[in-house]
Parts: sequence; structure tokens; C-alpha cells
Amino acid sequence: MHLQKRSRILRASPAIRSLVAETSLSPNDFIVPLFIDEGKQVRTEIASMPGYYRNSLDVTVSEVKELYGMGLKSILIFIKCKEELKDNTGKESWARDGLMQRSIREIKQAVPGMLIMTDVALDPYSSYGHDGIVKDGEIVNDETVEALVKMSLSHAEAGVDFVAPSDMMDGRIGAIRNAFEKNGYSGTGIMAYSAKYASCFYGPFRDALDSSPGFGDKKTYQMDYANRTEAVKEALQDVEEGADIVMVKPALAYLDIIREVKNAIHVPVSAYNISGEYAMIKAAAKMGWLDENKAILETLTAIKRAGADLIATYFARDAARMLGS
Ligand code: PBG
Repeated sequence: MHLQKRSRILRASPAIRSLVAETSLSPNDFIVPLFIDEGKQVRTEIASMPGYYRNSLDVTVSEVKELYGMGLKSILIFIKCKEELKDNTGKESWARDGLMQRSIREIKQAVPGMLIMTDVALDPYSSYGHDGIVKDGEIVNDETVEALVKMSLSHAEAGVDFVAPSDMMDGRIGAIRNAFEKNGYSGTGIMAYSAKYASCFYGPFRDALDSSPGFGDKKTYQMDYANRTEAVKEALQDVEEGADIVMVKPALAYLDIIREVKNAIHVPVSAYNISGEYAMIKAAAKMGWLDENKAILETLTAIKRAGADLIATYFARDAARMLGS
């Protein structure tokens, strides 16, 4: 055969493959989600997330030190709220001495270099398990935004680096940015969950925090998975309102959305490789149907290739280990 072009030349050896690889992963790309619980020396494995734990704050602080030593430099924290503190105002979410606020302070003090991000939404604190305040069976927007602003300010006061509003209420990014400016927190950032879809893949996360909606679903605020252009509209609007980073969530069934958003805006794009995506790989690996390590690296590389500049992932520790840091 006489061929003018032989594509296999660039695939012939590990050396040439690595030389021409278009995408590479590093621990710098990852945000580690952490679930924090009350108590001391508590370490509870999450049933639908094998190998992932909800830890008390003392255990979390040691873990954060270890993660930092592995080159993982940002965390996204979630807390499990005690049942008796849940209500329909979400007021525990801005309690000065709440578990979230204590966690921010203690982690910051123990590992000052670790970038701390916090989830901002009412669901862990809501007696209804919804991301907002419920009135007559509806999730009301504007009152919820007021609550989210108080919650964000309390995180800023505790020393958070970025808040990450995951609630999908309208206008919350602008309201939070304004409140930060007015109250002396001009250095606090916002990572907006801009294109967050109503997804069945959040199931294991809701087990972790006991935060499943008590009635209905989240479709009146989270996006319809049939939509693509709407994601761009949401991301543009959040950037306009002051988002420093925008997020697409989930990641795997939404790689097209990540690319679309990446092409449309000029702030960093993050993607959340969520709980159900973790659970799928874990389950298949347990059955012996997939090579877990290979599946992790392929998945994370695909998310980055799609356009994610940063990735929140429960696999951060495994990936960092494999990447040899
Ligand atoms: C809270 C929130 C959720 C997740 C992150 N923040 C759940 C939800 O919206 O129901 C999901 C994360 C995951 O599944 O890993 N609003």
C-alpha cells in the first residue's frame, strides 16, 4: 500500500502518545467534596457510595491535612444537619456556630493553604428536603434568595474562600455578590452551579446527607435535561451577575453542555462528577465488570477534554494517587 497519511505514526509508542496528548490531568484540577457530621471520631461509610465517608470535624481536619499533602488544594464542603435543627426557614444554615461555620474556621486554621468552598442551598437544613423555602407546595424564589444571602454571609464571615450556590433560584448570584460587596467581603468568590439539571444521578448524595425531597421533585428549579441552549443562557446570566466560576452538573451525561458553556463564556468552567457517577463505576468494578482505576482516569480525562477547567470529584484522591503526586 502507498499511503500519504498514516495516523498510527502518532500512536506508535508511549513516548509519542504522551507528546501529542491533547488533555492531561493533574491534582491541580480537582476539588474534593467532603461530607461533615456532628460528633467526635465519627466515620460513617455512605451505603450507596462505597469507599466514601461522612466524617466528624476532627476526622475531617486530619483528612484535609492528608489531602493537602497529596497536592489536592481545594475542597467543597457539605454538612449533615441534625434532624431537630431542620425547619422551613433554613435558619440553621446561617447560625454563627453551626457545623458548617465551625468547619470552615477549624479547617482554615489547621490548613490555611487549602481553598475552601461551601455548598449554598437549603436542602440539608430544610424539613421538606427542598433547596428553598416552601409555601403552599411551591418553592418560593425571592424569600429563598434572602436566606441564601444570609447563609453566604455567614460562610464569608467564617472565612470561606468561595461559596458555591447549588440551589438554582433566580437572581441569587447577583444578590450574594452585592451582599459581599456591602459587608466587607469583596475578596470572597462565587462558584455558581449555573447549569444544574434535575437528575436522578444525585440519589447517593441525598443518602449521604439525608436530604431527599419530602414531596415532589426539583424540576421547578433545576433544569430539564432535554435542554442545551438554556444552559448557556444560565451561565451567561450568572457571569453577568458576578460568578467567578460557573459549573455544569452532572458531568457525564452532560459533556455536550460542558463544551457548549466552555465555548460561550470566558470564566473558568467546572464540572461536578457527581455521586451517581461515582456509584456506577464503583458498582461495576465490584462486580468485576470494569477496571476501576482505568474507568476513573478515562472519565476524568473525558470531562476535562469536554471543556472543564476544574472538576469536583469523589475520585480526586484515587486520581491524585494514580497521577503519582
Ligand atoms: C444540594 C446539592 C446536591 C448536590 C450538590 N449540592 C443535591 C441536589 O441538588 O439534590 C449533588 C451532588 C452529588 O450528587 O454528588 N443542592
